[in-house]
Amino acid sequence: MIDPKALAGRFPSDFMFGVATASYQIEGAAREDGRKPSIWDAFSHMPGRTFNGDSGDIACDHYHRLDEDLDLIKALGVETYRFSIAWPRIIPDGRGPVNEAGLDFYDRLIDGCKERGIKTNATLYHWDLPLTLAGDGGWAARSTAYAFQRYAQTVMKRLGDRLDMVATFNEPWCIVWLSHLYGVHAPGEKSIDAALAALHTLNLAHGLGVEACRQEAPEVPVGIVCNHQAIEPATDSAEDMAAAERAFQFHNACFFDPMLKGEYPEAFMAAYGDRMPEIEADDLTTINQKLDWWGLNYYFPMRIAHDGNPEAAFPAVKDATPVNNVFTDIGWEVNAPSLGKLVRQLYDRYDLPEMYITENGACYNMGPVDGVVDDTPRIDYLSDHIAEVADLVAGGIPLKGYYAWSLMDNFEWAEGYRMRFGLIHVDYETQERTIKESGKWYKALAETFRTPDTETA
Ligand code: FCB
Repeated sequence: MIDPKALAGRFPSDFMFGVATASYQIEGAAREDGRKPSIWDAFSHMPGRTFNGDSGDIACDHYHRLDEDLDLIKALGVETYRFSIAWPRIIPDGRGPVNEAGLDFYDRLIDGCKERGIKTNATLYHWDLPLTLAGDGGWAARSTAYAFQRYAQTVMKRLGDRLDMVATFNEPWCIVWLSHLYGVHAPGEKSIDAALAALHTLNLAHGLGVEACRQEAPEVPVGIVCNHQAIEPATDSAEDMAAAERAFQFHNACFFDPMLKGEYPEAFMAAYGDRMPEIEADDLTTINQKLDWWGLNYYFPMRIAHDGNPEAAFPAVKDATPVNNVFTDIGWEVNAPSLGKLVRQLYDRYDLPEMYITENGACYNMGPVDGVVDDTPRIDYLSDHIAEVADLVAGGIPLKGYYAWSLMDNFEWAEGYRMRFGLIHVDYETQERTIKESGKWYKALAETFRTPDTETA
């Protein structure tokens, strides 16, 4: 464990520390004030999709406990809050009528942050696609990109005057591959064709979304949050190194190449070009928008080796054994140096603007004993990763802030409520919140950075 004040001393004074959440994981109130179901409501209510059949119906009941939770964010001493906006609250059928009550909730959230001197960083899409749009094919349907464009316009018109930052998407990799090829997340599809269609719709929606944000709220810095994979080849053999490059194209470049260079990666297109949906004349220009910032979500590296099977589909890699024998309770390898390597690799390959670590954190499931949640392993995880971030800043990477995942324990998607990532413990029976020891540690670090002009009188 590193002393939080000493660690704080390694960052410039304009660095920001924050906490992050996502709408479906915390809000609950799934059927209230005009909200209609999303693909996650449908998926989690389908037997066998989530652990224990858990759903976000109630979650942390944040929708009803907004003020209490904003007080907790303030109590953690952080300067900025990253949250997501639920499309099914704003335009419940994905297209069609706007639900003012949904916008009102985020009005209260943003104003509540402002009153407490907390900066706001909103993500427009963190996986809760209005279910009605699934009837047209969801992300596999091109029309969803235009529905997203209108949703982005609607949000920014109403809330853009008070947002400090906005991101179009959270984790394209999960939306495309995890949800449409690996079948783990909603809609649970396992088809390369569906995934390729979702890939292009999502990239297009990102481009249209950036334009929409700029049109409605030109002052708000706009970006995207990605969980690019930190690909670690099993060995430095020529075969494994080539496999790592293919994996980079498949997992990372199929998003960043079109977004930042206006083209899909070559080997990726050689493998899948004939199965991609139609790419219309201006699509790549629309997708290739200059960004004001970008966010990286990092948890653990992806270890891969060359797959010699001639039948293996591109990128023709197989999983390799983790070299580091330390895992969190969700089974993810703990490895801070891979974060640094990934960030440097991305700045080497792309012309990138300033960045934020928009999510980083650890799953440890211990609960309160006599009112105290002793989660020392989480403190160790955070210390090591934040120290890595300090090295990146010292090395000249324009890295401006760090958001811990997560403010509080919440609905961990397919893992339901059994996996806990919070700095604050949530008792789901009583909805009681308890600041964990890691939360206290993070507070000691973060409050050093709260600049006086963001304090309320
Ligand atoms: C990320 C998600 C976030 C949370 C963490 C643990 O992939 O963006 O919602 O589930 O993982």
